[in-house]
Amino acid sequence: MEKGILISFEGGEACGKTSQIKRLVSYLKEKGIEVVTSKEPGGTPLGEAVRNILLHSNLEICPRAEALLFNASRVQNVLDVIKPALEQGKVVILDRFYDSTYAYEGYAGNLEVEELRPIIDFAICGAVPDLTFLLDIDFDEALRRKNADENLKNLDRFESKGKAYHEKVRSGFLQLAKDNAERFCVIDAKKPREEVFEEIKKEIEKRFDIKD
Ligand code: TMP
Repeated sequence: MEKGILISFEGGEACGKTSQIKRLVSYLKEKGIEVVTSKEPGGTPLGEAVRNILLHSNLEICPRAEALLFNASRVQNVLDVIKPALEQGKVVILDRFYDSTYAYEGYAGNLEVEELRPIIDFAICGAVPDLTFLLDIDFDEALRRKNADENLKNLDRFESKGKAYHEKVRSGFLQLAKDNAERFCVIDAKKPREEVFEEIKKEIEKRFDIKD
């Protein structure tokens, strides 16, 4: 069975991962590489329904239900989208994956990281990224970007949480990067977008057999 490459992008709010993913997809496609993208929560019809509940509903959701909902979206994405593409030897690029659950629900939320591990392992069915980009950004810069962008002004359930929460998300991500140094590549997302993309490209070329 051929094995593809799994790359995830992580980071706090407004870190720019969605636009960097778009650039990376174009870059890889220009080289004739088959790329599949997905996001979490989301990626499948079930995932999109769960995303809507998690981000935009007014339902009261307790922290454990929140963790399970993210992982319900995740397992459907793993089985329907991620694994089939990897089995076909494709490059799969994810806009968030399980590190977000550790950072948001674990380090910043009310749940123990060790309690989350078995739920995440159950959901990912062995799918671990070959490379994870952490686009690191501080809360004040994220807020500045949000205020400057009309499209980012309607805040969802997570964006509405305060500075203390988002600072914990950020240090949670940095801790995850430290604990998984081989897998993570941390990039200062405050830099201009072009520079951020150059660093992404360099890392991809260093790790995989993809040349300019
Ligand atoms: P997005 O805005 O990057 O699409 O992410 C959706 C929000 O969901 C974002 O605030 C992070 C949050 N989230 C979690 O809390 N846990 C998770 O496991 C995932 C994937 C996202």
